[in-house]
Amino acid sequence: MKILVLAAHPTLEASVVCRKLLAGIRREAGISVVDLYERYPDFNIDVAAEQKRLEAADLIIFQHPFYWYSTPAILKEWTDLVLEHGWAYGRTGKALEGKFLMNALSTGGSADAYGETGKNRFTVPEFLAPIAQTASLCKMSYLPPFVVFEGRRLEWAQLAESAGLYKDLLTGLRDDRIDPRALARYRLANNAAGKLYGVEAKPA
Ligand SMILES: Cc1cc2nc3c(=O)[nH]c(=O)nc-3n(C[C@H](O)[C@H](O)[C@H](O)COP(=O)(O)O)c2cc1C
Repeated sequence: MKILVLAAHPTLEASVVCRKLLAGIRREAGISVVDLYERYPDFNIDVAAEQKRLEAADLIIFQHPFYWYSTPAILKEWTDLVLEHGWAYGRTGKALEGKFLMNALSTGGSADAYGETGKNRFTVPEFLAPIAQTASLCKMSYLPPFVVFEGRRLEWAQLAESAGLYKDLLTGLRDDRIDPRALARYRLANNAAGKLYGVEAKPA
C-alpha cells in the first residue's frame, strides 16, 4: 500500500510524541509525510493538490495530538475543503472508494481515563466516530486508531518503543505483511502489536 501521513501539530517544534513518531517513518520509501501546519500556515489549503495526493495513496493517516477530544483545527478545515461532494462522496463521488483511513494520535490523558468509568467517559474510538463515519460516507474503510496514551509521561525508552511499533505497523501495511482486514478486528491498532506486527505491547 502507498501511505500518506497527514501530520497536524500546530507547534511541532515543541512536540515530544508526534515528533518522535514522525522521526521513525519520515525516511521510509512508500510513506509520504505532509506537515499540514507547515504547508498551510494561513489555512489556505490547496484543494486540488490535496486531492491529487489522496488519489495516489491507498492508506491515509491523520497523525495528530488529541485536542479537545478531536483533531487540531487544520484537519477539520482540510476535511471541510478537500472532501468535496461529487469527488469524495455523493452519487459520483468515488475518488476515495476502497482506500483506508486511520488516526494515529497522542493523548495527555491516561488509558484508564478513556472508558465508561474513566473521567473522559468515552473511549478514543468513540470520540473518533465522526471521522469513522466520514470514511464510510466516502466509501473508505476506517481502521482502528494507533494511540499513544500519556505520551509525554513515558520514559524515553517507552516512547521509542511506541515509535518502533508505529513504524512496524506502517511498514507492515505498506509491504502487505499486515492485512488491514485483520487489523480491523482490534479496538486499537496497538492491540494488534505482537499478534500482527512488532513486539508484544506493554499494557498501558
Ligand atoms: C489545546 C489542547 C487540547 C488538548 N486536548 C486534549 C484532550 O482532549 N484529551 C487529551 O487526552 N489530551 C489533550 N491535550 C494534551 C495533548 O494531547 C498532549 O499534550 C499531546 O498529545 C502530546 O503530544 P506532543 O508531545 O506531540 O505535543 C490537549 C492539549 C492542548 C494543547
